[in-house]
Amino acid sequence: MAVDSSVLPNSLSSWKDPLEETVSQRLAKIAPNSLGEAIRSACKGGKRIRPLISLWFGAAHGVDRDSSLGVACLTEWLHNAFLIHDDIQDGDDWRRDEPTLWKSHGTATALNAADWLLSQVYSEISQLSVEDSVRSRLLQAVSDVHRRTVEGQQLDLGGRADSRFQLSDYERLVKSKTGRYLALGMVCAAILADFDEDRVNALWRVGDQLGPAFQIQDDLLDLTPEKGRGGEFGNDIREGKPSILFAHSVQSDSLSEAERKRLVDIMALPREETSDSEVEECIGLFHKTGSIDFARSEAKSRSKTGLELFASISGLSGEVLQEFEMICTYMTDRSR
Ligand code: IPE
Ligand code: IPE
Ligand code: MG
Ligand code: MG
Ligand code: MG
Repeated sequence: MAVDSSVLPNSLSSWKDPLEETVSQRLAKIAPNSLGEAIRSACKGGKRIRPLISLWFGAAHGVDRDSSLGVACLTEWLHNAFLIHDDIQDGDDWRRDEPTLWKSHGTATALNAADWLLSQVYSEISQLSVEDSVRSRLLQAVSDVHRRTVEGQQLDLGGRADSRFQLSDYERLVKSKTGRYLALGMVCAAILADFDEDRVNALWRVGDQLGPAFQIQDDLLDLTPEKGRGGEFGNDIREGKPSILFAHSVQSDSLSEAERKRLVDIMALPREETSDSEVEECIGLFHKTGSIDFARSEAKSRSKTGLELFASISGLSGEVLQEFEMICTYMTDRSR
């Protein structure tokens, strides 16, 4: 039977039930209830791609189940905390086809929910039954990703509707904003499985390819209702976000000076003043410059490079390689 590469591969989805059970248990008793309810609402409905990769990689390398679930959960807490902040920073009203947390619960409670989740990230590490040296490697990996992602988010804020924004700027932004934390679950599992520094560094390099492949697909999905913004699309344009499409188009020779100015002017409009037809106009310019095809091929080539780097790591089994190939394909073919 042909495999549908737009949905989660079986190697990952088979971990969904134990993961969901653990997530529910961990979030069941948070006081006060107003905080617990906000946190549970923010942690609902995602694809769980990061913790599922972590569980898959840990199981393939003999990591015990409790530790594996602990590091898997921490990647999801970190991710959801980032998303709560991200929706406030981006001014988005919708996430996973529900109102964003700051919209449904207010910005003050949303910030508190994200702070609680961040504390839980580090609490997961403190509760693992591991040697001090392992805990210290985990702490370093997690705190490094935490810091780099924040730096990437700041580069993203700094590039809004910037007419001088270049693909090299996007590269720096995307490697920090998404590159590191996509690989985090795999890296944590590898540390628990006692991989040496060289093999761990190789996994980070895989993330530097696969994270951008994932983010580029996210930039493309933003042009479709599948992004989960309650049916809206093109929100990155309304936000003036330096997506790969903007970075490629704004520097393109295919635009006249008037078109380039129009693109930047629309991107610079406050989101509530940007009309649907202006969003369509920008998408038209992205097509004219070939930015959409460019983004698709960039996502594919990075996913391919990520797979090659992964295959060059010593000691990985043939089965793990095969499963990882499907995970890489899913990163760029996913439909949500
Ligand atoms: C969205 O991540 C934010 C990015 C890093 C692009 P996901 O697409 O993994 O979001 P959920 O958790 O599945 O909703
Ligand atoms: C967010 O990128 C990346 C992080 C949360 C670190 P986006 O701003 O593109 O994510 P979405 O599109 O809102 O999910
Ligand atoms: Mg966003
Ligand atoms: Mg953002
Ligand atoms: Mg996005």
